[in-house]
Amino acid sequence: MNKVKTGIIGVGNIGYAHAQSLSSGKAGALQLAALCDIAPERVARCKASFPDVPVFTDYLQMLVDAALDAVIVAVPHRLHCDIAQQVLRSGRHVLVEKPVDVTVTKAAALNAYAKTQDLVFAVMFNQRTDPLFARARQLVKSGRLGALKRSVWIVTNWYRTQQYYDSADWRATWSGEGGGVLLNQAPHNLDLWQWICGMPQEITAFCDVAKYHNIEVEDDVAIFARFADGATGTFLTSTGEYPGTNRLEISGTRGKLVLENGTLKHYTLAQDERDVCFHSVESFPQIPTDYEEFSPDNAGSSHNGILRNFADAILTGAPLLAPGVEGIRELTISNAAYLSAWKGNVPVKLPFDSREFDRMLASRAASSGGKPTGGKPTSDGGGYLARWSVNW
Ligand SMILES: NC(=O)c1ccc[n+]([C@@H]2O[C@H](COP(=O)([O-])OP(=O)(O)OC[C@H]3O[C@@H](n4cnc5c(N)ncnc54)[C@H](O)[C@@H]3O)[C@@H](O)[C@H]2O)c1
Repeated sequence: MNKVKTGIIGVGNIGYAHAQSLSSGKAGALQLAALCDIAPERVARCKASFPDVPVFTDYLQMLVDAALDAVIVAVPHRLHCDIAQQVLRSGRHVLVEKPVDVTVTKAAALNAYAKTQDLVFAVMFNQRTDPLFARARQLVKSGRLGALKRSVWIVTNWYRTQQYYDSADWRATWSGEGGGVLLNQAPHNLDLWQWICGMPQEITAFCDVAKYHNIEVEDDVAIFARFADGATGTFLTSTGEYPGTNRLEISGTRGKLVLENGTLKHYTLAQDERDVCFHSVESFPQIPTDYEEFSPDNAGSSHNGILRNFADAILTGAPLLAPGVEGIRELTISNAAYLSAWKGNVPVKLPFDSREFDRMLASRAASSGGKPTGGKPTSDGGGYLARWSVNW
């Protein structure tokens, strides 16, 4: 076999982009062999754009009728694990869009099933192909930064308008999407955060619901994380700020990394700061510091890179850049962040009680009334001036 006959379930924004990549040869050995969507307008677009490719409206039928080696799942998050499991059950390799699902419970069940199958299971964490993040991971894992002290990621360049949220009914509702910025935009960064710095042990979070949009879920989040060795992490994200920032800073006992605007700045101390702190005879020493910059000329192969890697894993056994079983990690952080916020911003130790999370999410989904309309979330119209008063 030198081609991988591939079907796509869910041919919306990203599924259609993947279909175009496959049909134009940008996805390596993946060959577009079938498409499936339930929305009539999406089905019509598939037929018009890819007249030689069979189009289905029932993915189970597609799995029975189409000659396929692999399937890409690009439907709303809540359906990812159920459909991926059916794909594996049919004997096909599967690539799931991010996030791997909405709950750790479902991701764990899919992982358990996938481990019993001799099939490739990948997840679309396309930002793992970015050379900046790969370099940061390599520097941290190799110990060049020493022991980690702190990471701070401000990632507020996920700006979205009300039009975006209104573009599909499932978006930004507890019943349809199951979350907001944490579940839709930030999974890329949450995944990279744990990929580079490892998993935290405890999460405390503030998730502000509908702060900037008429939605049912959060659009502004602050997470504080504690790691096993005493390191801390702060992760701030929002879809309501413009211009946004995307800046990751990681400090260790031997140096510091700053990633922003396509450049990685790497500071290396000549001596470990912990040694200096306890052996220096000076109070305010200047520690000799080397400085290097890394500015790759591109942001990596992104989606097409993950698609090609998926094909290579199937055809040659190449290691996956984003194994599907790793999708549970960023989901663990985001589920824990919701749990912390819902319980009154309390610290949540990992692994957390996923049944408690599932119950709390289910009750939100059960009382989901769709996206609110009407009043526009704004600031308090000038009352903010009181914040500069001296009141005590
Ligand atoms: N990796 C990335 O950069 C990236 C970018 C965008 C979206 N995504 C992810 O891809 C997924 C889809 O997002 P989108 O923006 O393309 O959404 P979308 O609403 O544009 O597309 C989803 C499509 O799935 C179809 N669908 C729903 N239920 C189905 C079913 N049972 N069978 C077949 N088709 C079904 C819908 O009709 C729709 O066309 C989400 O999980 C999202 O997080 C990832």
